[in-house]
Amino acid sequence: MSAQHETSSHLQVELGERSYPIDIGQSLLDSHELLAGAISGKRVAIVTNTVVAPLYLERLTKTLQAAGKQVIPIVLPDGEQEKNWESLMKIFDVLLAEKCDRQTTLVALGGGVIGDLTGYAAASYMRGVPFIQVPTTLLAQVDSSVGGKTGINHPLGKNMIGAFYQPLAVIADTTTLNTLAPRELSAGLAEVIKHGCITSEVFFSWIEANVGRLVAREPAALAYAIQRSCEIKADVVRQDEREGGLRAILNFGHTFGHAIEAGLGYGEWLHGEAVGCGMVMAADLSQRMGFIDEATKQRIAAVVAAAGLPTVATRMDAGRWIELMQVDKKAAGGKIKFILLKPLGTPVITTVPEELLRATIAACSS
Ligand code: NAD
Ligand code: GLY
Repeated sequence: MSAQHETSSHLQVELGERSYPIDIGQSLLDSHELLAGAISGKRVAIVTNTVVAPLYLERLTKTLQAAGKQVIPIVLPDGEQEKNWESLMKIFDVLLAEKCDRQTTLVALGGGVIGDLTGYAAASYMRGVPFIQVPTTLLAQVDSSVGGKTGINHPLGKNMIGAFYQPLAVIADTTTLNTLAPRELSAGLAEVIKHGCITSEVFFSWIEANVGRLVAREPAALAYAIQRSCEIKADVVRQDEREGGLRAILNFGHTFGHAIEAGLGYGEWLHGEAVGCGMVMAADLSQRMGFIDEATKQRIAAVVAAAGLPTVATRMDAGRWIELMQVDKKAAGGKIKFILLKPLGTPVITTVPEELLRATIAACSS
């Protein structure tokens, strides 16, 4: 694939009456046709945080006001550790104090934390109000804003409280990525690599060849990675919205990753960093299971490293790893299910012998 990709695209998540568009492009925060077109009521509550608000809240507010909307800002503290019950209550406090009714649309302006929180607030407020995702991190643009998983963390497990609740639209302004910290850009690349690993060796090879351009934020490369990721995710979600089976493949690297996040304390490692390292661990386990060869495992570790992500986990007692992984939503009857590769580009959902799991934990942490 050449460097000449379009920098804007329009996709659709096909879910019958819950279908919605994804628009990806530059300066979409200024597009009142797009934003107002997705909002039918007059009142809009923009949920954002203290980092994103100074960057983009005023701009989005002006765009919506120009389209005749009344805007209520809700600015939360920043960080994964804020993806909790208290933040959810802060959203409800403002919505109730402002007498927001069922026609009020919630707009999530921010990364995956704001998207997940806002979506869950929208699913619960008055038993459901409309919401729109305006993702501003790479991770949110390639993954979390699409598919309707919303929720918060519990101290005993990541994303354990939540709901499936689809947005009415996803509007991804790729120019917002210019202000993203390099570490956060890398975190988003983890989910791009994940999409290649689980569905397409061709896309994985494209990432391998273009990872330098992605890290350098070349607009055409980023736009292609976002578009291809959204296509892949939309296709999986179309087939299995509520994770009856297939959708679990989107958790490649996450069983290990969630254990890293919960084990070290949310916010210590970024979610994408934990997923990056988790994918290296899942590749190691796939190789121990005889599903992929050593060279493929090394390719995955190399692209994760080239994306600026960690490939070795912080040492934790193996028993603690296993305890944390048993809290995973895919676990059933205490048996941990892993998403592994058999081969690269094809996922398999399986249990594994405990001695192989312990070998992976020992080999991939220090
Ligand atoms: P995040 O939301 O914490 O954002 C990362 C950091 O970047 C934050 O400090 C944020 O304030 C800041 N930021 C956001 N936009 C910015 C911009 N344009 N410029 C500068 N700074 C900006 O983290 P994230 O990586 O976007 O999302 C991670 C969360 O997403 C996790 O909670 C994870 O569980 C969740 N997630 C959900 C899904 C899903 O399907 N719902 C999928 C993947 C991840
Ligand atoms: N990020 C996993 C999912 O959306 O299913």
